[in-house]
Amino acid sequence: MCGIVGYLGNVEAYPILIDSLKKLEYRGYDSAGIAVWCQGKIEVARHKGKVDELRGACKNGFEGKMGLAHTRWATHGIPSERNAHPHRSQDVVVVHNGIVENYMELKEKLRAEGDTFLSDTDTEVIPHLIKSHMNKGEDFVTAVRSSIDDIAGSFALGIIREEEKTLIAAKKESPLVIGIGDGEYFIASDVPALIGLTNRFIFLEDGDMAVMNEDGIHLTDLEGKGVDRPVQVINWTAAMAEKGGYKHFMLKEIFEQPRAISDTLIGRIREESGRVDFEELELPGISRFKRIWMVACGTSYHACLIGKHMIERNLRLPVEVDIASEFRYRDPLLTTSDMLILVSQSGETADTIAAMKEGKRKGAYTLAVCNVVGSTLARECDGVVFTHAGPEIGVASTKAFTTQVSVLYLLMLHMGQMLEVLDQDTIRQKIGEIKKIPRKIQLALEENENIVELARRYMKYRNFLYLGRGINFPTALEGALKLKEISYIHAEAYAAGEMKHGPIALIDENMPVVFVSPHDQTYQKTCSNVQEVVSRRGNILLCTDHDGHEMREATDTLLHVPGTDYDLQPLVFVVPLQMFAYHIANLLGTDVDQPRNLAKSVTVE
Ligand code: F6R
Repeated sequence: MCGIVGYLGNVEAYPILIDSLKKLEYRGYDSAGIAVWCQGKIEVARHKGKVDELRGACKNGFEGKMGLAHTRWATHGIPSERNAHPHRSQDVVVVHNGIVENYMELKEKLRAEGDTFLSDTDTEVIPHLIKSHMNKGEDFVTAVRSSIDDIAGSFALGIIREEEKTLIAAKKESPLVIGIGDGEYFIASDVPALIGLTNRFIFLEDGDMAVMNEDGIHLTDLEGKGVDRPVQVINWTAAMAEKGGYKHFMLKEIFEQPRAISDTLIGRIREESGRVDFEELELPGISRFKRIWMVACGTSYHACLIGKHMIERNLRLPVEVDIASEFRYRDPLLTTSDMLILVSQSGETADTIAAMKEGKRKGAYTLAVCNVVGSTLARECDGVVFTHAGPEIGVASTKAFTTQVSVLYLLMLHMGQMLEVLDQDTIRQKIGEIKKIPRKIQLALEENENIVELARRYMKYRNFLYLGRGINFPTALEGALKLKEISYIHAEAYAAGEMKHGPIALIDENMPVVFVSPHDQTYQKTCSNVQEVVSRRGNILLCTDHDGHEMREATDTLLHVPGTDYDLQPLVFVVPLQMFAYHIANLLGTDVDQPRNLAKSVTVE
């Protein structure tokens, strides 16, 4: 993981680098560092901990109009100042996101040439390699290219040296974007880091190298052959990447969900004609697809599980769902008549990208459902549909999840119309239902104050069970994931019918059980599960769209949400679960937006 930024231009680099780095902190935050170039000298500072600690450590100096910065998520070497980036060898300074797989072998070779290493990182070999090539007579750019040739693995690189005002960027399998300003250039791991500085971006492709100096930008492949990459305009605003008065990004993003879903629907649904269309998507020969695969990680995987319910129920088309890190290594039975849908907020998750490559290798049609325009998945899949959630900064995914589920619902309707398995009346009725969702989520959000009180009552427990059935089993999985990742409380989700096959043994007065229980065909079954918990002195928190009278006596707590169409229930039911997790974590005082050990996009295996 890790986040990198770079600047070359006419104004002071330090404030730009530090502010942009702060916006990348979600990618890693165990140490940070900065390098600023000033007339033939490069000043470097590194610090264990977050960007603010680095800021505090950089009192003087750091004046100059070119520089690099890095926020780290440790892979090789513990979080410490000496392992923090930038790494340097004499006058060459490097920041890196990715993994140099053959670093041991390279280190041995460089040691034999007399080099000394000061860190335990894989990255440190890169500046040493560049120096080694320069010592053999290569110029800076050629030496960078030769060094890249030497390394196996993934990289997004920012490189500068003392003798010249030149910034080099290169990319393979780790994200890197170039921002084009007025006589200035920025590099960053993603677009949100540069919001407010420019809205013009070049998305580097694997094997691209960019050389920037005061004469302009020169893009080549790794052989040095010129390449053309379009400049894309992205109109995300600065306000979108700020907290807007909320204590945490996560809370802001929970409250943004009605807006994010409305934005995701706009321009795609036509209630009058009963049509759903995506401007950016053409599905060629859709009837050739005999099976759909949906593959993702974490929260995005939960969205896939919901998508399976929707598609199988409504289109009667078989859907396989898999976790990307499993799928990529199990030689899946994919054929050319399969469609592989990859769901990812960032579009940069390494396992999901590998799953896409596996799908392509086997001839499947690949379709990305993605939030970040210009991301690897968005660029490399055969088709893409964007969620319009806007930048998601909180590490725990919220609005990305609900917009993913919304897109999968629209995709199901679009496919139903193309395959002629859904008639216009049905599509019209289903469009009407999703149009009501932003308002229903708004109503669910109005329970916020009550949920703060609930959080106060429940924050003392160390274990939780989450139970749901059908399309809400994934909702339960998502609720449990939210709680564990930000509050560090152990939470486990099961299909409610599975409880009697094992988890019931855990139930006593110290085990709260969260039931996700809409008033649908599964409701009576859940009533029985509630009784089973009550008989074992379990503590019940019932989330339902019903008045819950059958369960009222047995229930310690009732969380009420508006009812909706079966396929859309997770969109409404997940909201109180997100808020519940948020308020417990906030009351416990954890770092909600940047929980320990996590990073927003997992760009390494
Ligand atoms: C959980 C969370 C992660 C991500 C997962 C996939 O709150 O954010 O589980 O969902 O790392 O990330 P993307 O969607 O970017 O591929």
